[in-house]
Formats: sequence, C-alpha cells, structure tokens
Amino acid sequence: MNITSEDNYATIWQENLLKGKVCLITGGSGDICKEQAKALIRLGCSISIVGRNAKKVKSAVQELSECIEADNKAKVIGFGNCDVRNFEKIRAVVRDTSESLGKIDFLVCGAAGNFMADFNHLSVNAFKSVIDIDLIGTFNTVKACFEDLKYSKGSIIFISATLHYYGVPFQSHVSAAKSGIDALARSLAVEFGPLGIRVNCIAPGPIGGTEGFNRIVQDKKQFSRKIPIQRVGKKSDIANATIFLFSKASSFITGTILVVDGGFWQMGNINTINSYPEMLLAKLKSKI
Ligand code: COA
Repeated sequence: MNITSEDNYATIWQENLLKGKVCLITGGSGDICKEQAKALIRLGCSISIVGRNAKKVKSAVQELSECIEADNKAKVIGFGNCDVRNFEKIRAVVRDTSESLGKIDFLVCGAAGNFMADFNHLSVNAFKSVIDIDLIGTFNTVKACFEDLKYSKGSIIFISATLHYYGVPFQSHVSAAKSGIDALARSLAVEFGPLGIRVNCIAPGPIGGTEGFNRIVQDKKQFSRKIPIQRVGKKSDIANATIFLFSKASSFITGTILVVDGGFWQMGNINTINSYPEMLLAKLKSKI
C-alpha cells in the first residue's frame, strides 16, 4: 500500500469502522478534503469527489485509489467540471454518484473560494463569488443530496472557519460566507433531526501544508508558538474530527461547530497584528 496520508487512521479507529458507507465530498481534490477522503477510505468508506478542475480531480482519484487496501472494497470516483454554484450540475453528479456507488450516507461540503482583499479592493462580483461558492454552493449540495440522505439517514459536515468569531481584515467576504454556513448548519440540524439526519460543521484553524496556510504564513516555527497547543494543525486533525462526526460515537451530536485549531482563536485576532492598521489603511485610502 502506498502510504501518502499523514496518519495511520487504522491504528486510532476500529478497522472497517465505515465499511459499506458512501461519502460525497465537494472540493474533494483540495488539501484538507483530500485528506478527509483518505481517512474515510482507510476505514472502508467509498468516496465520490467533486471539483471544478477536471485535471485536479482526476489526479486526486488516482492518489485516493492507491489508499485502498486489497480487502477494503472501498471505491473512489470523481467528477470534474462541476461548480457547486450550478445546481443542475451538482444534481447530476449526485445522481451519478448514487447510481455508481448505490447510495449516499455522508456529505462533506468543502468547496470554497478565498483570497485576501480589503473592502476597497473587493468588487461587488468578488464578494458575490465567495458567497456563491461557499454558502450558496453548500445549500445547493445539500438540496441535491436531500433524498439520498433521507433514505440513508445520513450525516452532513460543512467546512467552516473561525474568522467570523471576531473581525478579521482582508477576509470580510469569507467571514460573511462562513458565518452563513454556521447558521445554515444550525437550522438544518433542527429541521433534519426528526428525519435521522445530523448536520455539523468543522471549523479548521491554521492547518499546515495547505494552500491558504502557505500563502499567509512564512515562518511556521515562530507561528506555532502563538498557538496554545504549540504546533500548527495537520490535515489529519481535520480528518480525525470527520471520522468522529460520521461515526456512531457522535450519534447524539448535531448542530455543533467543532473547532479544530489547537485553541488558536481563543488567543484573539493576533495573526493580523502585523498588518494592522498601516497596511490596511494604505489599501483602503488608495484610489481604485
Ligand atoms: N483580490 C480581489 N479580488 C479578487 C481576487 C483577489 N485576490 N481574486 C479574485 N477576485 C475577484 C475577481 O477580480 C472577480 O471580480 P471582478 O469580476 O469584479 O473582476 C471575482 O473575484 C471573481 O473571480 P474569478 O477568478 O473571475 O472567478 P471565479 O468565481 O471563478 O473564482 C475564486 C473565484 C475565489 C475561486 C478565485 O478567485 C480563486 O481561484 N481563488 C484562489 C484559490 C482558492 O480560492 N482556493 C480555495 C482556498 S480555500
């Protein structure tokens, strides 16, 4: 077996814990969601990953297929060229997943868009794009999977963030979108509970080896000291939270936002101190 994931999930969790289950993951070829997929596969769950970039999806399917052990029986399929903003496309992908893998038990809504921009440099379309991908895309995906999840009495995880717990400059668009995602999770948890469907969020903190982290953090060691647990997160930290929320161990948990950040947000918004307010003011005062 080609061990490419960060942790050996089979030593933490019971072997075949999720055998026979099927999970659809939007944004499944991205850094964090691909690791979630690897962990689920290791425990016997079949995966359907969905993404905008067909090449990235194809290569992720190949990588994930290498995680399947001989007696595991999990399957991996992928759908590129699918933008969660387009309801008809995500509906077609859900239908194809259900036909190929038989059902959908779990859903991870991980498709997201992000860039750093102050208000002055954030166009109307830029703000709308992130709201559309993160929030409307999450709604669209749940809508498309609803009948399958009703049938399986499934479980849903939204990928949120901690940005909106306080005011983070350059991230107003993402903060607004993730705040909406938390609200959606809470409402749907209450609506879907009687159907046997659970809805929770995972809010990752700074996770090493991801596109977003690499873009923002230069000195990983120095940055780690600002995190109460004294290390940056691993993608496997998010994957382990995912397994917990999809396992029977969390059968009484719904409407929860599980923060996986080593206690970082409790420290306040110290990660933007260096750019506040001089850099921000320069950007806000500049003529567009
Ligand atoms: N700063 C300010 N505005 C930006 C921007 C930036 N860094 N990046 C994109 N935008 C604006 C675009 O200019 C456009 O607005 P306009 O039409 O007024 O010019 C709007 O956002 C939409 O961007 P575009 O790339 O054309 O379309 P899209 O909707 O297909 O993609 C993103 C949106 C967010 C996915 C894309 O900008 C992107 O690829 N971001 C980086 C990668 C990423 O998000 N990875 C996920 C990490 S969680």
